[in-house]
Amino acid sequence: MIRNPALILAAVCLLTACNTTTIPVVPLPVEGHSIISDSGMVVSAHPESSRIGIKILKKGGNAVDAAVAVEFALAVCYPEAGNIGGGGFMLVREADGRTDLIDYREKAPQNSFETMYLDADGNVRNGLSTDSHMASGVPGTVDGMLNIHSKYGNLSFREVIQPAIDLASNGFPVTSGQAADLNNNRERFLKMNDTKVAFVRDVPWKGGDTLRQPDLAKTLELIRDYGRDGFYSGRTAKLIVSEMERGNGIMTLNDLSEYNSVFRDPVSAWYRGYRVISASPPSGGGIILLQILGMIEPYDLKKLGFHTVSSVHLIAEAEKRAFADRAEYLGDPDFTGIPLKEMLDTGYLHSRMSSFRPGSATPSSSLSHGLLIPAESEETTHYTVVDSYGNAVAATTTLNNTFGSAIVVDSAGFLLNNQMDDFSVKPGFPNMYGLIGSEANSIKGGKRMLSSMTPFIVEKDGALFLAGGSPGGSTIPTTVLQVLINVIDYGMNIRQAVDTGRFHHQWLPDMITYENNSLDQSVITGLEEIGHHLQSRSSIGRVNAVMILPGSRKWGVGDSRGNNSARGY
Ligand code: GLY
Repeated sequence: MIRNPALILAAVCLLTACNTTTIPVVPLPVEGHSIISDSGMVVSAHPESSRIGIKILKKGGNAVDAAVAVEFALAVCYPEAGNIGGGGFMLVREADGRTDLIDYREKAPQNSFETMYLDADGNVRNGLSTDSHMASGVPGTVDGMLNIHSKYGNLSFREVIQPAIDLASNGFPVTSGQAADLNNNRERFLKMNDTKVAFVRDVPWKGGDTLRQPDLAKTLELIRDYGRDGFYSGRTAKLIVSEMERGNGIMTLNDLSEYNSVFRDPVSAWYRGYRVISASPPSGGGIILLQILGMIEPYDLKKLGFHTVSSVHLIAEAEKRAFADRAEYLGDPDFTGIPLKEMLDTGYLHSRMSSFRPGSATPSSSLSHGLLIPAESEETTHYTVVDSYGNAVAATTTLNNTFGSAIVVDSAGFLLNNQMDDFSVKPGFPNMYGLIGSEANSIKGGKRMLSSMTPFIVEKDGALFLAGGSPGGSTIPTTVLQVLINVIDYGMNIRQAVDTGRFHHQWLPDMITYENNSLDQSVITGLEEIGHHLQSRSSIGRVNAVMILPGSRKWGVGDSRGNNSARGY
């Protein structure tokens, strides 16, 4: 039975007031931004993908079956970031407490090289790493989903991918937010493609219009029928390589056949008695999150207050230090030695805060000689699944920019990522955010570009307590951080923790950005007086999270900043 807290409260009040033993029958929603369920829960960026996840759970699938179904469904119903042409990270916690991570991040094609986006004078060629066929890393999603499913799935792969095929061929109603996304990107689709793509039509999209993708349905059928070979060789691989030839791309049949997703150990650390688990490199997200938590733990955040000058100052200073470390040390662990243990050492994290002054901001320029972080788009998507057995999946996946490079593989119907831009295209070159990149994240054939994706799982007293994640590029780990401290330090419920305003500091630029109206003017003035620079902006992140309540009920929250959807049963 699904329960909604507001309606339960209303029902209780009604009963008390009427002093009657008759229990009114209150129709309770199964889907919305905030839902409580007894059995399974799926929270994702689109109502269709959440529905498909629940359908798989009800059919006897476990959280991984549902997650794989959701991932493929998002490739159809949320092409802004859902994909088979991109990649991501999926964190799994089995009901018995074992954890696992699959890294299905894209890889640079073998013909990639460090200066591939530079002209003869060594200057960065504008748009080549974002708006061209050369922007695409070798997609990882299909291999990742096949591998995680073959390790953990209960149902057949055919059963979990079929709903996405049906969705692509029958079509689905676009949300109002999606209609705006499609209209805003119309010119990009027209510019980047020679043939008509499903995302473009003659009249503007509006919420409720049907989007059908027959080419994508055919590609998904090949994956259903031939597994890896349905994507990394045969017809689909040939179509990808033809698409590359059309636009001077460098991805080859060999790059595709050699792609492999990797199982890695997640990173974890304790914070005020809670165990926080997240993605390890090549995502920097988990390390940043755990470093910030380690740096702020000695301080009594609750006493400092919520969104006060003191608490925002403390968190922003810890964020600066964590991002500076990321820039210096993080890259693909298969290519770069990463001092993970040292970076998460409690003594080290406390010593990083020795220069922290409660009454003044430390200028970012004086914090580190390290190299700076790479550019990242903020369009990514996260989904969370918890099944009735207590297995949990938190997965974040992306094409990088909204709709990736906007290039649709001709006749295969899916978008290519522009993830190559997550590499440092030139050491020392400021990107669109004024940031520069590091050697650890330089381009090399077969290497994975650094990410900020931060799927997380939190345990309380050894049991599953919270799972979730967010899109948002470099703001992902700081968004996740705020959800965690909102729950752990400020005692908020999961809906409040997700919906309340956010802010962000990433070391460089030396700036606290905050969601419009999220900080009081007196707090902004107070922060400026101690040396911070602040700038308001539109929304930060879109968290999709599940909290476990007493009695194993699940509270799913889809961020009200988007058309996100929690669905339970
Ligand atoms: N492309 C965004 C990220 O991987 O963090």
